[in-house]
Amino acid sequence: MNLSARFESFAEWCEDTSPLYERISRGVASDADLLSLAEDVPRERSPPHVLLAAVHSRLLAGADHPLADHYPSVTDDPAEGDPFPAFRDFCLEREAELRPLLRTRRTQTNAVRRCTALFPAFSRVSREVGGEPLALVELGPSAGLNLSWNRYAYDYGDAGRYGTAEFALDSEIRGGSPPLPDEFPPVVSRVGVDLNPLDVRDEADVLWLRALVWPEHRDRHRLLAGAVEVARRHPPDLRRGDAVESLPAVLREIPDDVPVCVFDTQMRYQLPESAQERLSAHIEAAAERRTLHWLSGHETAAEWDNALTLRWFDGEAYRRLAAYEQHGKWLRWLL
Ligand SMILES: C[S@@+](CC[C@H](N)C(=O)[O-])C[C@H]1O[C@@H](n2cnc3c(N)ncnc32)[C@H](O)[C@@H]1O
Repeated sequence: MNLSARFESFAEWCEDTSPLYERISRGVASDADLLSLAEDVPRERSPPHVLLAAVHSRLLAGADHPLADHYPSVTDDPAEGDPFPAFRDFCLEREAELRPLLRTRRTQTNAVRRCTALFPAFSRVSREVGGEPLALVELGPSAGLNLSWNRYAYDYGDAGRYGTAEFALDSEIRGGSPPLPDEFPPVVSRVGVDLNPLDVRDEADVLWLRALVWPEHRDRHRLLAGAVEVARRHPPDLRRGDAVESLPAVLREIPDDVPVCVFDTQMRYQLPESAQERLSAHIEAAAERRTLHWLSGHETAAEWDNALTLRWFDGEAYRRLAAYEQHGKWLRWLL
C-alpha cells in the first residue's frame, strides 16, 4: 500500500471515533508536501500514527498555533470547521521540530483498558494451573502499563466490580460474561520485552504516550494518566530487545516448575510474517517441556466492528477466549 493509501485507510479507521483525525488524514493523503514529510517515518512504524502523534505531542507540550484550537485534548471548547489548513501550516512551519520525532518514535500506544480482557483471561489460566503463582512475560509492553493489571480495580457494570484499588478500569460486557475470581490470581514474577520500552519516569516518553491517544478520546487520556501514576510507584521490569528472538532466553530465567503465561496485545500486527511464525514455534517448543499458556490479542474479529480476538494457547490447542473492542471499551467472553 502506498503512503497516500495508508492515510486514506487510517482515515476510515478513525471515522467512528475521531472526526478530527479522519479529516486530517484525508487531507494528508492528497497533499504532496505532507506525504513527503511522512516519508521520514520508517514504513513498518505506521506513518499516519507517527505523524499525527508527533504533531499532537507538540500541541500537548504547549505549542502556540491556531491548530491547537481544534484538539479536544488541548482545549475544552474545540473550534468547528476544517482543521486541515491549520494542520498543514503547522507541519510546514515546524518541520525541523517534527522530523526528529518522525525518524525516531514508534507506534507504541499503551492501552491500559485492554486489561479488562486480560484480567479474566489470567484468571482462567490460573484455574488451569491449580492456582499456582504465574510467571508473566509480556511481548511488546510499550511502557508496561498492562503488566500492572492486578494493581487496578475493574468495573464491569452490572457484571460486577473487582479489586479495591482507587484507580479502576471500566468495560461493558456484551454477550458472554467472563468468569471472575474472588481474588486476583497470584503472580510470582512479571517481565516485558519491547524493541523500545517507554519509561514512565521520563517526561518525553510520557508525552509520547499521551500523544498517541487520539485527541477526542478523553476517557483514554484519563485512564492513561491514572495508570502512569501506578507505574511510577511500581516501575515494571522492562527489557529492551526483540521479544521474539529473546523469548527462549527469557523463559530460561524462569524456574521450570513455575507455570508461565506469555501474553501480548496489539503487538503481533507489527511483526513480519516470518517473525510471527518463529514466535509460535518458540512458544510451542517451550510448552512441550513446561507448563506454558499464551494469550494473544491480535486478529480482528470480523463479526464485530473494531474488535480484536484474544486467543488462548494452553499447550495443546488454540482457542478463542474473548472478543474485545480494540481499546477495551467492551468485552464479549466466548469460552
Ligand atoms: C501498539 S503497541 C501495544 C502496547 C501494549 N501491548 C498494549 O496493548 O497496550 C506495540 C508494541 O510492540 C512493540 N514491538 C513491536 N515489535 C516488537 C518486537 N519484535 N519485539 C518487542 N517489541 C515489539 C512496539 O515497540 C510497541 O511498544
